[in-house]
Amino acid sequence: MKITILGAGNMGLSFSKSFLKYELIKPENLHLITRNQTKFPKISEEFPKSKISTFDEVTDLDTDLIIIAVKPQDFPHVAENFKFQLKENQMVLSIMAGIKIEKIQKVLNHPLIVRAMPNSPTLLGMGITGYTAAEGISFSQLINIERLLNSTGRSVYLENEELLDGVTALSGSGPAYFYYIVDAMIKAGVEMGIDENLSKLFVQQTMLGAYHLINNSDKNLEELIQDVASKGGTTEAALKTFNENNFKEILKSGILNAEKRAKELNG
Ligand SMILES: NC(=O)c1ccc[n+]([C@@H]2O[C@H](COP(=O)([O-])OP(=O)(O)OC[C@H]3O[C@@H](n4cnc5c(N)ncnc54)[C@H](OP(=O)(O)O)[C@@H]3O)[C@@H](O)[C@H]2O)c1
Repeated sequence: MKITILGAGNMGLSFSKSFLKYELIKPENLHLITRNQTKFPKISEEFPKSKISTFDEVTDLDTDLIIIAVKPQDFPHVAENFKFQLKENQMVLSIMAGIKIEKIQKVLNHPLIVRAMPNSPTLLGMGITGYTAAEGISFSQLINIERLLNSTGRSVYLENEELLDGVTALSGSGPAYFYYIVDAMIKAGVEMGIDENLSKLFVQQTMLGAYHLINNSDKNLEELIQDVASKGGTTEAALKTFNENNFKEILKSGILNAEKRAKELNG
C-alpha cells in the first residue's frame, strides 16, 4: 500500500509514525507533502526513506490513499490548487475538523472519501478516532482504513456523519479541556505554597490514579465523587464552590460551543 500525507504537520506526522511503527507500510511507500521546503530537513531526519515534496511540485500522485491533514482553513486553497487528478481507485481520508464528506467530494470531484476525527494522543498510539465513510466504499476498503487508524489508538465507526461534530467537540478538542483543568489545579497548588514541579506531580498522578479508578470500579461517577466527599469535609467545600458557579454547566456549554464551531467550519 502507498500512502500520501497532504499536510505534514502535527497530525500528519504522528499518523505517519504510527503506520511505520506497526509496519503497516514501508517507509519508501510513504509520501509527505508540505506547504514549502522549510520543513524538509526536519522531516527527512525523521523519515529518511520517505518521499517529501512541496504541494506546488506534485503533478501526479502514485498512491492508494491520500490523507488530508491540513487545517480546515487551508483546505479551500488546497482544493483550488490541486495540480494532480485523483485516480478512480484512490481513496481519500480527511482528518480535517468540520468539513463534510459531501463538500470534500464536490471540491475534489471524487467519490471515495472517508472522514475521521482523531485527537492528539494519537502521537502515543493512545488516541481515539471517530470515522465515517461515503457511500460506495467497500467493506474491505473500510477495514484497511480502520487498520491504519487503529495504529494510532482506538477507532469507532459512526453511521451518522452529523455525530462527527460532537466527536470533534468531545474527543478532538477534549485533551485541551483536560490540560486546562490540570493547569488550574497546578496553579492552585502553587498558590497554596507547593513548588510548581511538586504541584505538577501531585496533580498529574492524581488524574492518572482517578482515571484508573473510573475504569476499574463498579461505581458510577457520582458514587466515586461521594467516596471522596465526606460530609462537612474539604472536597465538599470545593464542590460547593463549583456547583454555586455552575462549573459543570460551563464545561458543558463550552463543549456544545465547540460542536457549533465544527458545524460553522463546514459553512
Ligand atoms: N491537533 C489536533 O489535536 C487535531 C485533532 C483532530 C483533528 N485535527 C485536524 O487535523 C488537521 C491538522 O491539524 P494539525 O494540528 O496537525 O495542524 P498543523 O500542525 O498546523 O498541520 C497542518 C500542516 O498542513 C500544512 N499545510 C498547509 N497548507 C498546505 C498545503 N497547501 N500543502 C501542504 N501542506 C500544507 C501546514 O504547513 P505550515 O506549517 O506551513 O502551515 C502544516 O504543517 C486539521 O484539519 C485539524 O482539524 C487536529
